[in-house]
Amino acid sequence: MAFKIKVASSAGFCFGVRKALDRLIDIRNNSTLPVRTLGPLIHNEQVLEALKHRAVRELDESEDVTGKHVVLRAHGVTPDTRRLLREQGALVCDATCPKVGQVQAIVKKYSQRKCPVIIIGDRGHAEVDGLLGYCQTSGLVVTGPEEAALLEQGAEACVVAQTTQDPVIFDQTVKIIRTKFKVCHVHNTICDATTERQTETMALAMESDVMIVVGGKNSANTKRLADIAGKNCKAVMIQSAQDLSPNDFEGVKRVAITAGASTPAWVIREVVERIRVIGWQQYGKTASLVYQMMRLFNTFSLIWATGLGLLCYSLLLALTGVSAWPTATAVAFLVWIWRISGQRFNPGLDIGVSALLAMLPAIHVYKHTTALHTALAAVFLGVVFFNRLLLFDCLNVQADKISGHITLPSLNKKILTKLVVIVCIGLTLLAVLGLIWLTTDPVIAFLLIIPAGFTLFLSRRMKTQGWCDLYDLLYLDGPVWMTALLTMLFRIGF
Ligand code: F3S
Repeated sequence: MAFKIKVASSAGFCFGVRKALDRLIDIRNNSTLPVRTLGPLIHNEQVLEALKHRAVRELDESEDVTGKHVVLRAHGVTPDTRRLLREQGALVCDATCPKVGQVQAIVKKYSQRKCPVIIIGDRGHAEVDGLLGYCQTSGLVVTGPEEAALLEQGAEACVVAQTTQDPVIFDQTVKIIRTKFKVCHVHNTICDATTERQTETMALAMESDVMIVVGGKNSANTKRLADIAGKNCKAVMIQSAQDLSPNDFEGVKRVAITAGASTPAWVIREVVERIRVIGWQQYGKTASLVYQMMRLFNTFSLIWATGLGLLCYSLLLALTGVSAWPTATAVAFLVWIWRISGQRFNPGLDIGVSALLAMLPAIHVYKHTTALHTALAAVFLGVVFFNRLLLFDCLNVQADKISGHITLPSLNKKILTKLVVIVCIGLTLLAVLGLIWLTTDPVIAFLLIIPAGFTLFLSRRMKTQGWCDLYDLLYLDGPVWMTALLTMLFRIGF
């Protein structure tokens, strides 16, 4: 790989955005009534486009809302807007992020006590406008220390921050506000997810030549990330992979990628993939061609199916000494059919197909060896196949829920992806150890360690990235082919 690429583990959807999107998708999936959002649900063109395809669009100003679902955005709205929608007969779904809800509660409390509220944030931003709605007449917005210096002296004030505010600007502004008011009730309402993202961005930028910041052009938190990155290295803000140019990477070796809270994982993955292509192109046409072939290797189901068929053949050869081409071909065929059928991850069905797959070699092996050998060979093949399905599914994190497929990892990116990895490693190790214990052939035992080693390596990558990309599958498919071919070579050659 031409570039050293690091993806921030905090990149992508935050808790609030994910929750808002999930609520909207659930409504869309469970109701036949029209679904509208009040303004763009989140600041991301690709997600909004995907929602349009599912007949979810923004509410027009003149539109009648009676009998329609109206989803309120994660940034929140004013209480008057919410009340008005209800009075007009809309079925209001409040997808305001709970953390924004907490800030609204603070603002409301102080406003009721007639205490002026100062919001440190971006004037005109949806979240700030929503907060002002809770202040009634006692609220004002300052964007930073310069504007704070212009404030008039007063007796008492409450200070809050827009949840995506830069903590440095917040601290500097608060320092000045404290000199203006005798009593200051300061609430640092910057969201933890924002702080974590900004801290990681700064650390990554310091050790990189360029930082790619992915996010919507109207996204305040993405702009802030670009500002923070720009202070420490070259920063390029983009909305999608198409915005990247090879010129952005001139003289660059280390690339870091981060993304705003509204950026879905599939957009980040496309960006990573595009950067890899640009990196290989810099090595010339041959290198670029090799990389394209590697990608094809991963993309074609037939190649993966053939690899598994070969693995089946070499396993049976090792365990029984008998060449079993028909069984191996049947395994390859079954895997191929399953992959091209367009099936997405479905635990029940996939376990069923894995079991069916495992039974094919078992029928053959049973005549030539013990029941334990038979069971282990079956488990090993089934597990390798099942692992691949799980990991392939990790590629579709988040995209699945929007497109209507609910998958295991899409429900919770970090926890379930980790769980998937642990299950993959555990099953692979169990099967490999079983085979090593049983086989009398030391060459086979040694070769079976290869897929297990690569699975462990892959798990490390997923731990730091939180998701798997196309490139990662190579670490699973490559060893399967390598193990199969080497086993056959040793078996036939010695
Ligand atoms: Fe909520 Fe924080 Fe995201 S306030 S919308 S979880 S950035």
